Amino acid sequence: MAAPEARARAARRVALVPGDGIGPEVLAEAGRVLAAASGRSGLALELESFPWSADHFLATGETLPEDAPERLAREFDAVLAGAFGDPRVPDNRHAEEILLGLRRRLDLYANVRPVRCLDDRLSPLKGVGAAEIDFVVVRENTEGAYCGIGGLLRPGTPEETAIEEDVSTRRGVERLCRFAFELAGTLEGPRRRGRRPRVVLADKHNAQRFGGGLWHRVFLEVAKEHPACEAGHQFADALAHRMVLDPGSLDVVATNNLFGDLLSDVGAALQGGLGMAPSANLHPGRTSLFEPVHGSAPDLAGQGVANPFGAILTSALLLRFLGAPEASRAVTEAVASCVRAGETTRDLGGSLGTRGAGDAVLARLEAGGGA
Ligand code: NAD
Ligand code: IPM
Ligand code: MN
Repeated sequence: MAAPEARARAARRVALVPGDGIGPEVLAEAGRVLAAASGRSGLALELESFPWSADHFLATGETLPEDAPERLAREFDAVLAGAFGDPRVPDNRHAEEILLGLRRRLDLYANVRPVRCLDDRLSPLKGVGAAEIDFVVVRENTEGAYCGIGGLLRPGTPEETAIEEDVSTRRGVERLCRFAFELAGTLEGPRRRGRRPRVVLADKHNAQRFGGGLWHRVFLEVAKEHPACEAGHQFADALAHRMVLDPGSLDVVATNNLFGDLLSDVGAALQGGLGMAPSANLHPGRTSLFEPVHGSAPDLAGQGVANPFGAILTSALLLRFLGAPEASRAVTEAVASCVRAGETTRDLGGSLGTRGAGDAVLARLEAGGGA
């Protein structure tokens, strides 16, 4: 059994927000694994569930209670969320207020989306094995094209005009770039590959002179503070191409909110699909939000067939955040060992349901995470 890592500490509190569609199905499995892994490592955890979702919105008119961000920041160490989005709320208002609202109002400026392929059989690339797919997309998470500034002029007329602003602040770009360089210095991948940690900025300063230009200038300034890292640049379109053709050349990709959203779904494909990709919305030292990269998958919801591994790997990121790195590694290894054994849901070629895949991870975890 792993050595106790945090036995001396008071209980850590985690808020669970299952959300919509497959969110509650995958979060139930992530919650079970979290409880089992933390118990094994001596980390005392208290979990409390919150109902914020489309169902709750449609029943009560409430999206996110006004005091929720303050309450979460005061009373909880972290939030573990499922997914938000429901065809009955076509303008996505509840998801905007719950998910983007928490990212903004908790000021979770770094959305960390690891792209790590756990087994050769999950790599979609011909001749590229799992060992070559191990990097992190660091997505700015509070501004950019997600700032919510814009409007409609002459709506409903042939002259209808939509304006959607894209805001980048020096402070926002600088802290994101600094986070990316600091994270790069902690990664095992570059050491294993025998090179300096490499941070690549993905922007479009060739087309977006102002915002893109600011990103490019600030990135180069922050790079000078981190001589132990190698700083590179690639236009975001070419970076998407490089992710597919040469993923092994990447350690950290730093990018803005919208490019990060797109690139991290390409990254999910490199790990076996959206069902496998975890993420952490961070502001170092503050209550942070953990969620799988995928959405509510209305096409699968209610059938018990969604892949819970992305949510379970997200709970591994959460365990690391709570100071239990051994428990975190054990969870990741248990998932990897299920993948190697073919104990997976059907998106990965297996025949298990969501609960069965969660059971398989728990069994591997109990057996010590081994093969
Ligand atoms: P999606 O991620 O829900 O689904 C895209 C595809 O991936 C679908 O074919 C789906 O079946 C598959 N998929 C996703 N998760 C899976 C899993 N765990 N196991 C197996 N297959 C899985 O994206 P979408 O269809 O573009 O969006 C659906 C809804 O989710 C929308 O309302 C969207 O806004 C929302 N959304 C929410 C989040 C979030 O809450 N973080 C993220 C993305 C999309
Ligand atoms: C994600 C999602 C969200 C985003 C949506 C649901 C607003 O796609 O977390 O990747 O674009 O950030
Ligand atoms: Mn997305």
